Amino acid sequence: MYIIKKIDTLYKKIQFFKKQQKTLALVPTMGNLHEGHIKLILLAKKYADIVIVSIFINPMQFDNTLDLKKYPQTFLEDCLILKNEKIDILFAPKISEIYPNGIKMHTYIQVPKLSKIIEGKSRPGHFIGVTTIIGKLFNLIQPNFSFFGEKDYQQLLVVKTFVKELNYPIKIISLPIIRLKNGLAFSSRNRYLNALELKKAPFLYKIIRSTINIILKNNGRKLYETINLAKISLIKKGFLVDIFNVYNSKTLDVFSKTNKQNIILASVWLGTTRLIDNKKFKLPN
Ligand code: PAF
Repeated sequence: MYIIKKIDTLYKKIQFFKKQQKTLALVPTMGNLHEGHIKLILLAKKYADIVIVSIFINPMQFDNTLDLKKYPQTFLEDCLILKNEKIDILFAPKISEIYPNGIKMHTYIQVPKLSKIIEGKSRPGHFIGVTTIIGKLFNLIQPNFSFFGEKDYQQLLVVKTFVKELNYPIKIISLPIIRLKNGLAFSSRNRYLNALELKKAPFLYKIIRSTINIILKNNGRKLYETINLAKISLIKKGFLVDIFNVYNSKTLDVFSKTNKQNIILASVWLGTTRLIDNKKFKLPN
């Protein structure tokens, strides 16, 4: 495994593989690798000859400096995991390598509507940071495939949109959420949870599932009452609810009875930790 920190070195290595007509897969991460990332890497290996993983805690996508400062940094552990998985290149640049003139003056990529609603409303600027870093990584690496988890569902749609609209010749491949046995979605942020919060956290997915069951039983009627009851249950359990609602899973427009492909998106706080989760469901015709 090559560990590369400089853009020049990365570029040379990429050109070397391209000359050999190798196909490339990129798994972008912010480190603190878990089961979810490993599943993406295993899938990437099936698709391409060369697997590149990036680790970059991207300051541009943090709307809150405290959140950025406390983001778990586990570089050595991550390197061991990646070596074990026998990936080809780890690209782990410094902030100054990616944003040599700082973030404020940097050119950015923005998907107009999708980046401003739901999570984008709660975390202004977050998706601009995501699309800008992903765009930069795509330009530097020019992968044939790139892999994303479906836990950050809105992120996935935002990335797919800019890739399509800016004509990147890259196939975006996603994988369903990987969960612990108790239902809690794997996330780097789970590290912040204390013992009591870890016990409570799986309740979020439980409520998402039971809410979907009720919506299906009512065939989409009384949706707002159902959502409100779910929110009250979460609050009673000690969650602070930021987002918990039903959206069109293709457009992320708010629920309408005529739409059949839906998703519950949830963002909640448990203590000082923001947890997100989601589940898709179909209403019968
Ligand atoms: O999902 C993440 O870890 C990040 O948002 C990503 C896609 C690596 C961009 O920094």
